Amino acid sequence: MARAKIALIGSGMIGGTLAHLIGLKELGDVVMFDIAEGLPQGKALDLAESAPVDGFNVGFQGVNDYADIKGADVIIVTAGVPRKPGMSRDDLLEINLKVMEQVGAGIKKYAPDAFVICITNPLDAMVWALQRVTGMPKNQVVGMAGVLDGSRFRYFLAREFDVSVEDVTAFVLGGHGDTMVPLTRYTTVAGIPLPDLIKMNWITHERLNEIVQRTRDGGAEVVKLLKTGSAYYAPAASAIEMAESYLKDKKRVLPCAAYLTGEYGVKGLYIGVPTVIGAKGMERVIEIDLNTHERLDFNRSVEAVKNLVEACVRIAPGLA
Ligand code: APR
Repeated sequence: MARAKIALIGSGMIGGTLAHLIGLKELGDVVMFDIAEGLPQGKALDLAESAPVDGFNVGFQGVNDYADIKGADVIIVTAGVPRKPGMSRDDLLEINLKVMEQVGAGIKKYAPDAFVICITNPLDAMVWALQRVTGMPKNQVVGMAGVLDGSRFRYFLAREFDVSVEDVTAFVLGGHGDTMVPLTRYTTVAGIPLPDLIKMNWITHERLNEIVQRTRDGGAEVVKLLKTGSAYYAPAASAIEMAESYLKDKKRVLPCAAYLTGEYGVKGLYIGVPTVIGAKGMERVIEIDLNTHERLDFNRSVEAVKNLVEACVRIAPGLA
């Protein structure tokens, strides 16, 4: 059987890491696209030259022409600009919206049947714009955010409790911004929910609140340390988990930015919610029960995403 074709639109820090992970996991042949000439070609060649050492068999191609993504099975979009210290994800909106218009046109022309995972920020608005520009089915275009935010929450909790990261599961819903909603009731250590762990004196409310806030600020913490860009290892790993679930029809239950048509009381927006990802793309949204407090936080996050989408429409009225 022919190998899957995975196109990476954007070959910067996340793009390069994605390509490396795809190689190591032998998920498919990689086409790296970028507007910068030489960058995708150089990275593709460097990665191909690591294959004999690591013993993987996938092809790497670096390109500057959208025609080369023709027929891709999966497309992961990181094209655009990352933030610098002091910037919020929302500050990237105007410039990255223009990038999404170009990227969307390329995907629409050459690979409209692909499963598209958007990573470019501000995520919830950029994935919305990408779907609008491509006109592709909404279950075929998703945004990567919840896996990453959940992974950060899991890491912080595992360190706090001195247990394996593997045994911590976490739910983070809402938009991928300062208003994201880490859900402590649905976050567990080997199935034990955090509220029970508070009763068991593993952690106090106050300390848990600090960890929730650190999760919300997780991206900014890395930006502040790096100074020249934003996180790339964890975002890439998170998108690969989603791509793998699609390619292998694993039907993983993963939070992602999904287009809602009434679920959670939201219509016409991409918002982070638990979903099932399988061979049909984003196969279904899982609607969990939210208490009053969680609902308020979630609605506040939805409002923030709505404002960003409205800002997109003001800049590019054709997208409405
Ligand atoms: N078309 C294609 N590629 C583009 C375009 C465009 N119009 N504009 C910029 N790029 C490319 C850049 O040349 C660069 O190689 O996108 C790449 C982005 O890579 P980095 O600057 O290294 O950024 P990265 O850290 O990979 O983050 C990319 O993901 O998490 C988000 O906020 C982050 O929006 C940012 C994106």
